Amino acid sequence: MSEPTSIQQFDEERADGYDDRIRRIAPGYDVLHGLLSSVMAATLGDEAHLLVVGAGTGAEIAAMGEVQPGWRFTAVDPSPEMLARCRERMAGTDLDGRVEYVCERVEDLSSGRTFDGATSIFVSHFLQTREAKEQYVESIARRLRSGAPFVFADLYDPEDEADQLWAAWQEWFARVGASDEEVERTFSKMEDEISFVLEEELNQILQATGFAECTRVYQSFLWGAWWTQRG
Ligand SMILES: C[S@@+](CC[C@H](N)C(=O)[O-])C[C@H]1O[C@@H](n2cnc3c(N)ncnc32)[C@H](O)[C@@H]1O
Repeated sequence: MSEPTSIQQFDEERADGYDDRIRRIAPGYDVLHGLLSSVMAATLGDEAHLLVVGAGTGAEIAAMGEVQPGWRFTAVDPSPEMLARCRERMAGTDLDGRVEYVCERVEDLSSGRTFDGATSIFVSHFLQTREAKEQYVESIARRLRSGAPFVFADLYDPEDEADQLWAAWQEWFARVGASDEEVERTFSKMEDEISFVLEEELNQILQATGFAECTRVYQSFLWGAWWTQRG
């Protein structure tokens, strides 16, 4: 399997500050996770096994698992530090026994299991090329049963509104406490590291890899989330 173009390293330092930092930079983060849980509940029964790609510190597993006691999860993430935070979060809750942890990229996942649904929250915008994005999404598609729901969220390019939303987002970040220097550093890093693609291109990638056209279920500045289904 070829290496993807630009995968972010979620090391110890980044993992430690993640839960706080993501809530400051992604307004509505907890709403998004609650909402994805409802989208999944509307399409799945009481028993299901979900593939959580880029599970990170476990926010989506907590959101879905707390309201769906019959669901099981496979948490896939190549960062040992992020998966360690995920395990800590589940420890002592009934969720711990319902989660399998796999420290790998989804592209390399060795499990032969077919899943009932999948999520990918804030992962593929780090992949820089169309080829890497297609390889990533295809590796999720081939592990899902026909009709399985897939909810994904990423930074994207909302085209005509992008400049105004970018400015408004910076204003929001300053309002929740970021200094001028932090705003400048954070947003110029995002310009360098994030691949913002149009919704039309997201749809092309989905359809090229076996998914139906997507429906946007969430937007907050340049963050979007979509629901689709495996064909
Ligand atoms: C920004 S975090 C998102 C964490 C979590 N999904 C959330 O909603 O907060 C992105 C995570 O994706 C993981 N990741 C990056 N490339 C991946 C890949 N190819 N397969 C699976 N996970 C990946 C990173 O290690 C990191 O933990």
